[in-house]
Amino acid sequence: MNQPAANGQIDLSSPFRLDGQVCLVTGASSGFGVRFARVFAAAGAKVAVAARRADRLEALAAELPDALAVRCDVGDDDACRDLVAQVVDRYGKVDVLVNNAGVSDAINPGEQADVESFRHVVDINLNACFLLAGLVAADIIGREATGSIINVASVHGHVASAPNLQPAYAASKAGLVNLTRDLAVQWATRGVRVNALCPGYFETELTAPMFDDDRSMAWISRNAPMRRPGHEHELDGALLFLASDASSYVTGSSLMVDGGWTAR
Ligand SMILES: NC(=O)c1ccc[n+]([C@@H]2O[C@H](COP(=O)([O-])OP(=O)(O)OC[C@H]3O[C@@H](n4cnc5c(N)ncnc54)[C@H](OP(=O)(O)O)[C@@H]3O)[C@@H](O)[C@H]2O)c1
Repeated sequence: MNQPAANGQIDLSSPFRLDGQVCLVTGASSGFGVRFARVFAAAGAKVAVAARRADRLEALAAELPDALAVRCDVGDDDACRDLVAQVVDRYGKVDVLVNNAGVSDAINPGEQADVESFRHVVDINLNACFLLAGLVAADIIGREATGSIINVASVHGHVASAPNLQPAYAASKAGLVNLTRDLAVQWATRGVRVNALCPGYFETELTAPMFDDDRSMAWISRNAPMRRPGHEHELDGALLFLASDASSYVTGSSLMVDGGWTAR
């Protein structure tokens, strides 16, 4: 827990450090997850990375000190249980979980009601986050320790996806935002903080079709009050804040990193 420095000076950097902490990042084979793993390692944490593309995970783990790569399809409940068990076997605990693995639906106009696609997106973006949060919280509560769960939601957990027409994405992320509140309140006195990180548009594999399309880029520039998408490093501060003691009195919140998208 955050303490004033012994000499009475205000210490602004150490509350953000993660030395001795074990951080598990899902969806760490590309995009945000790769960056999050590197940021945690730079802050002193041991990092476990999970996704389906094991070769990419191995390459990432090889560049980080004492990291663990675990192949895991988060849509498979047993694989999620095995993931958390492997991290606890290796390090003895999990302090921080980032529920980052996510998918978006193809354009799915509501009147066509493509339920299969809807179910799959909700399964990965919401149901898996519930299971993994519960498994990690059980470890933290069982040790009578403190820890942080960060659910990577989206601006589209707060506003509609139109004109993208991705109802499953919007519904799953909105569900994740309120799951965040519900679990935060459940665990508020038991050492587990739960918050949502809600990015606007950033260039990753997920958004590549938009970033390759001039009209989409113009739409992002028109709608983001800062008139541009986010840059990869612009999530670093929010991630470290939510993971670390710097946010020791923050739980159940949504931290928007969106250039003002949802403030309009
Ligand atoms: N980029 C943005 O503008 C933006 C904005 C708001 C929110 N987000 C959210 O940020 C998170 C990361 O997305 P990103 O933009 O970094 O996209 P990305 O590069 O496509 O990364 C998605 C990650 O999720 C993993 N994943 C997908 N399905 C999985 C499954 N069934 N099991 C395990 N892992 C799975 C992928 O790994 P494998 O394919 O190897 O399994 C990949 O590592 C997502 O939750 C996304 O909704 C992104």
